[in-house]
Amino acid sequence: MIVLGIETSCDETASAISEDGKILSSFISTQKIHKKYGGVVPEIASREHDKILNQMVFDTLNDSKKSISDIDGIAVTQGPGLTGTLLSGVCFAKGLSLGLNIPIIGINHLEAHIFANFLSDPNLKFPFICLLVSGGHTQLWHVESLGKYKLLGETRDDAAGEAFDKGARILGLGYPGGPEIERNAKMGDQDSIKFPRPLMKQKNYEFSFSGLKTALLYYVNDGENKNTSDIAASYQYAIVEVLISKLKLAVENMNCDTCVIAGGVAANELLRNIIRKLLPNTYVIFPEISLCTDNAAMVAYLGELYLNNGKKTAIDFKVYPNMKLA
Ligand code: KG4
Ligand code: ZN
Repeated sequence: MIVLGIETSCDETASAISEDGKILSSFISTQKIHKKYGGVVPEIASREHDKILNQMVFDTLNDSKKSISDIDGIAVTQGPGLTGTLLSGVCFAKGLSLGLNIPIIGINHLEAHIFANFLSDPNLKFPFICLLVSGGHTQLWHVESLGKYKLLGETRDDAAGEAFDKGARILGLGYPGGPEIERNAKMGDQDSIKFPRPLMKQKNYEFSFSGLKTALLYYVNDGENKNTSDIAASYQYAIVEVLISKLKLAVENMNCDTCVIAGGVAANELLRNIIRKLLPNTYVIFPEISLCTDNAAMVAYLGELYLNNGKKTAIDFKVYPNMKLA
């Protein structure tokens, strides 16, 4: 089966083609225009998607040496995300589905992030624990099989990616904050400032990052001659330590020998290195960077799984900016 995947949940326009579980081609365009605003401006983001989607799908088809009539189905991100940007992708996908008379399936973006791990490692087997860390979510999942997920816990306030983004803004660094903080942290000492580790000692799967962000703000505002690299390194270390302590707790309590990391924050090198060190007996999968951040390969892949199982979505489906998983 050949599936076209489309992803427009935020500021990445992405399209990909999968065939029998393999990605033939995957294109991602990150909108640069938001950098000057220090965050994504939803209305601008929707218009940017509308401008390039058609050409991007054309290029993806060309790259995969397929023609539009070869497509058997379309998978498109239905939520969560920004209402307007989700609508850009969904309206485009619905038009194609109607025009070509082929099935369409609305995909949960979080679920697609989890399944990106199967593209990285085709040997991945259920069940596994997933630490899902993106710009809008920080969650721990027990993934039993396709469509069967148990939420172990999540953040009470900010997501880990949000903590990186807001932290970078406080430090006067660019957007998105994760890569910026990581780059600065490389030149700093992660033990120089002892930032709080909210909820870390509590034996549950809940996270909280808003207090950490406030601690950073107070630290930066209090006095002069602060070394940005030291602050970035210490702040990054605090986020990473909290994430890993909860993941480790889940892996131990659930007696699970496999865990996967999903979402944009999974690109973080310190997170990758420490997890490998602290979970030496656990099979850990990190998707390659292009599969951590938003992409359509994960959407096409998951869409193909569902379409193959005979599932599709009625054409009048809505977008769900707060779409939940399970
Ligand atoms: O999954 P994603 O691309 O979009 C959402 O679904 O939210 O995640 C974006 C988030 C942003 O908050 C960004 O700062 C963070 O992932 N991120 C990183 C890194 N690369 C992206 N955080 C830490 N280290 C990175 N290298
Ligand atoms: Zn995402």
